Amino acid sequence: MERESIVVSEVAIDDEATFREYAAAEDGAWRAGRPHEPTIAWRERLAAFRALQDTQAVLFVARDGESGPVVGAAQLMLPRMANTDLAHPTVLVPPEHRRRGVGAALGRATLDRSRAEGRTRFVGEVIIPRGAQDSTDVAFARSFGLRESYRDVRSELAVPIAPALDVELRAECEPHWEGYRFESYVNGVPDDLLTAYLTLDGLVEVDSPTGETDFEAEIASPESYRRRTAVLVDAGLTLIETVALDAHGEPVALNQLKVRADPDAPVMQRGTYVHRAHRGHRLGLGVKLTGLAALAEQAPQTRVVRTWNAIDNAPMLAVNDRLGFVPLEDMVSMIGELD
Ligand SMILES: CC(C)(COP(=O)(O)OP(=O)(O)OC[C@H]1O[C@@H](n2cnc3c(N)ncnc32)[C@H](O)[C@@H]1OP(=O)(O)O)[C@@H](O)C(=O)NCCC(=O)NCCS
Repeated sequence: MERESIVVSEVAIDDEATFREYAAAEDGAWRAGRPHEPTIAWRERLAAFRALQDTQAVLFVARDGESGPVVGAAQLMLPRMANTDLAHPTVLVPPEHRRRGVGAALGRATLDRSRAEGRTRFVGEVIIPRGAQDSTDVAFARSFGLRESYRDVRSELAVPIAPALDVELRAECEPHWEGYRFESYVNGVPDDLLTAYLTLDGLVEVDSPTGETDFEAEIASPESYRRRTAVLVDAGLTLIETVALDAHGEPVALNQLKVRADPDAPVMQRGTYVHRAHRGHRLGLGVKLTGLAALAEQAPQTRVVRTWNAIDNAPMLAVNDRLGFVPLEDMVSMIGELD
């Protein structure tokens, strides 16, 4: 196929037929060579985009000719509230359509759009086998001038954890937890805690090790948090949010679990965070153990929990290690400047 015949167009989020083609291409590319990845139903993918409040998602498809079949997809995330100099592109080409210039055409579309939006930094994430130095996906990102900034490791935990391990860890931690208590909430944090919870949530990315990529705090408003939660719950997801509260009842640590609509799909652990002033009290392990107990109650069918952590986040990796998380693959975050 000649490169000239590849036509890239933007997908309107309410154009269901085209969104389904977009989702099929994304699924095919994302799962290629990664048998552990579940298929995500297109409705759930759509809900994830609709749930975004302070970030604009621009979606593209590439076709073979004007009205030919979809051969690739791309998403471009444009933060609107903070980090407004950043653009996050992901280019996804199913294996059967690779090495024909589809990815390059989609990559150019995301670059052009980012420039038109006045963005000056471009941050892309590439999955790579555990410990690998390089890959064709990294080479693709490099071909757009991006360079490695930092790495995350993606790990998974078989759940429920052994009761004896739970007892052992709690016994070890309890002396450090004096003055704190833990609570889990299903599908929404109560109003009286929400502002403090969202402030804490906004710091997760700021405080995680992210190489040369600086992120500003993105603190969602209570209204946008409620809207996002409602869209996800409507789509059949369950959100389990756990906090550690200090002696004044202020949330000082959090853990977030997202249970997919498909009961067989792994549960995603979105973030775990302990406020700087409250570190050293084993609160990270506390919110994780409490979250896992709530998960066992809410979604007892769950067998696997997956999470991401920066490779140089030693304290968080140590906590995961104690719980029994096993590394699965790495994620290379790449950065470049737009002129
Ligand atoms: C990375 C990906 C998008 C490439 O799609 P593609 O359609 O095969 O890419 P193209 O044919 O347009 O290649 C563009 C450039 O990428 C680089 N590249 C792509 N595949 C490569 C390979 N197998 N080996 C070396 N370089 C490669 C080359 O520089 C190539 O330019 P060239 O053809 O002029 O040499 C596709 O493999 C994919 O979906 N991977 C999984 C998702 C992902 O990691 N996306 C990138 C992160 S945003």
